[in-house]
Amino acid sequence: MLVILHWLMALCIIGMLAGGLLMTGNVLEKSLRFQVYQWHKSLGVVLLWLICARIAVRLATKKPPLPATMHRYERLAAKAGHLALYAIMILMPLSGWLLVSSSSLGLPTIVFGLFEWPHFPNVAGNHDMHELAEEIHETVAWVAIGVIMLHVLAVIKHAIIDKENLLPRMGMGKERNI
Ligand code: HEM
Repeated sequence: MLVILHWLMALCIIGMLAGGLLMTGNVLEKSLRFQVYQWHKSLGVVLLWLICARIAVRLATKKPPLPATMHRYERLAAKAGHLALYAIMILMPLSGWLLVSSSSLGLPTIVFGLFEWPHFPNVAGNHDMHELAEEIHETVAWVAIGVIMLHVLAVIKHAIIDKENLLPRMGMGKERNI
């Protein structure tokens, strides 16, 4: 269950980061940009729920232990990296929701054209809140890109230097040393 959630969310979050940078980068034509904003907000709201589900499942299940060959500093780094990823997964959708809710434009979020997701209460038109949420959304996005790169580099380092394939732990391929 956690493995499926991991890959589903990894794909969505990478898509959200790329889509977010694309839509704010002034490269899309106006009507397409509007559409991408709608998809971004819709998927962002779905992700907020998936993240809550992930945290609930994570708390309720045991994960496989890290390989015994891992050094102490590597375990600490893995733990810190995973904690950072959880913080990012919570901060990104929450700050996105806050920034949309506090905007003076008051544009609704219609989740995939199906239903309206309510705005965060009591913040409409709050300029300071809007600025803060925007700052957090953008800064955490860049931190996320850095942390995801480090996360992937760590898996590659284990495969190439330590000859230890960690992907079977995440449901990809058979357990074997390479
Ligand atoms: C995991 C979830 C999310 C990720 C990874 C993500 C990522 C991003 C990124 C990378 C940007 C571009 C930042 C910039 O350079 O200004 C962005 C912008 C934006 N996001 Fe998100 N986002 C997420 C969730 C949400 C949610 C839930 C909403 C609203 C319901 C939202 C609304 C927005 C809006 C309105 C902008 C444009 C901000 C502006 O124009 O300055 N995002 N997002």
